[in-house]
Amino acid sequence: IALISVMLIAAYLLGSISSAILVCRLKGLPDPRTQGSGNPGATNVLRVGGAGAAALVLFFDMLKGALPTYLSYKLNIDSVSLGFIAIAACLGHIFPVFFDFKGGKGVATAFGAMAPIGEGLALYLMGTWVLVVLIGRYSSLASIVTAIMAPILTHYLDDRFTIPVAMLGILIVIRHKDNIYRLLKGEESRFTLRNKLKR
Ligand code: G3P
Repeated sequence: IALISVMLIAAYLLGSISSAILVCRLKGLPDPRTQGSGNPGATNVLRVGGAGAAALVLFFDMLKGALPTYLSYKLNIDSVSLGFIAIAACLGHIFPVFFDFKGGKGVATAFGAMAPIGEGLALYLMGTWVLVVLIGRYSSLASIVTAIMAPILTHYLDDRFTIPVAMLGILIVIRHKDNIYRLLKGEESRFTLRNKLKR
């Protein structure tokens, strides 16, 4: 119980470190919370600062999810607690204690947290995201579809984690509420690797 509590708190604190805000600060870029969609995540950093900065954010946001879950798995923590540790990391990213509890949407962190379930799941999820971006050209739509697919795929690949993955999926879809309104109104910005926001 003590070890699980420590891992839960550590996962939440690690998740609370916003890669998007820190990478933009370090690179002298504008705060992603004040630009584009206002979301401190890799997609918006792509708009604000380009592919290099976005790749860094994506990497570190995934790492914050993967590290605590992988470590907990290695420490032989049971699967139910493992699921809660993954959720704690994502809650940190979404409601960061270091940034007024106003964080991102949890996509990269959830992906990182789910990846230790198995490379099969990671590949399917990545494939789903890329496919939807290629077809629809919306990062948000790709994230929403992937979040819905995640528990379905988990159910077939490793049913022990279906419930925590479903909880993460629901959280991610709810966090995309504004994106859903924009998609329905045809006002969502298209995913592009090139056009940076005009500054
Ligand atoms: O990962 C977040 C993405 O799904 C949407 O980001 O900036 O377009 O709201 P954004």
